[in-house]
Amino acid sequence: MRIGVLTGGGDCPGLNAVIRAVVRKGISTYGHEFVGFRDGWRGPLEGNTRELGIAQVRGILPRGGTILGSSRTNPFKIDGGVEKIKSNLAELGIDALVAIGGEDTLGVAAKLTDLGVNVVGVPKTIDNDLGATDYTFGFDTAVNIAMEAIDRLHTTAESHHRTLVVEVMGRHAGWIALHAGLAGGANVILLPERQFDVDQVAGYVEKRFQTQYSPIVVVAEGAQPLDGQMVLHNQELDAFGHVRLGGIGQWLAEQLEAKTGKEARTVVLGHIQRGGTPTAFDRVLATRFGLGAIDAVHEGDFGKMVALQSTDIVRVPLADATRELKTVPVERYTEAEVFFGS
Ligand code: F6P
Repeated sequence: MRIGVLTGGGDCPGLNAVIRAVVRKGISTYGHEFVGFRDGWRGPLEGNTRELGIAQVRGILPRGGTILGSSRTNPFKIDGGVEKIKSNLAELGIDALVAIGGEDTLGVAAKLTDLGVNVVGVPKTIDNDLGATDYTFGFDTAVNIAMEAIDRLHTTAESHHRTLVVEVMGRHAGWIALHAGLAGGANVILLPERQFDVDQVAGYVEKRFQTQYSPIVVVAEGAQPLDGQMVLHNQELDAFGHVRLGGIGQWLAEQLEAKTGKEARTVVLGHIQRGGTPTAFDRVLATRFGLGAIDAVHEGDFGKMVALQSTDIVRVPLADATRELKTVPVERYTEAEVFFGS
């Protein structure tokens, strides 16, 4: 078979590990041929390809980002986009596609499957908010980066008797905030799943200062105050209709400084959480996803996504991945609340 591979959406540590596993097993075990599509769905849309053989995937396991490039191109938003993809795939002699992406990329994959394109999906997002899989690769790396930042912020916060607000990624789901906050010993963790009362947060901050320790407040970029509007960087939408977030951390630090009289500073971790080398956990998960994906393609089991359920790699319908966002359950947040303000 001649198989196309693409990576779409926000990049994520571990993408190259998936590509490597797909290509290595696909060639050495099954004797398939590969074509790399550049920049997500823009690749097949424009027929923009690159060579993808064993030589091209050598040495990429520890590399962050994606050797194929990525974009948030949505072919369903482009006039004649789907027809163009189909004709380009036919012209290039592509029998099947491995699409590695989050809810947007896999949403396109699911629709294309319905239109007769042979696709197998691989879930990816640092946010860990895709349904049907227990974990996505990239999440563990992002959490470790945020945890390390929190560890460092504790010492400078304490030296200056300041509040340190750390804004992490997570527009609709607070998994990164929850895990990094727990692992880093944050004093308050604020998630998009639950609106927060800024006076209550100020109370936690004051209580922490009374113990002679400085508070670290971890806030997900999508968290919102009780009756306020979501704080937006600007109102621009991307091709999948997402607004660009950012600003809640700064807003919160100003509020906390005014309410507690203690200096506050903000650190926005932003894309640092997505860059650089994947952790061992993410390399292994991404590699196992890649191996599972090429098996599915080889068996002609299209319209499926590989997923982690418990410790097993399984296949689920592509549509399951995007049906429901996996948010933080109330009981998981309640567990963490024990540490707030103490
Ligand atoms: O979905 C992954 C993610 O990193 C989100 O956590 C974040 O809100 C978004 O992507 C940022 O996207 P962009 O790459 O467009 O800045």
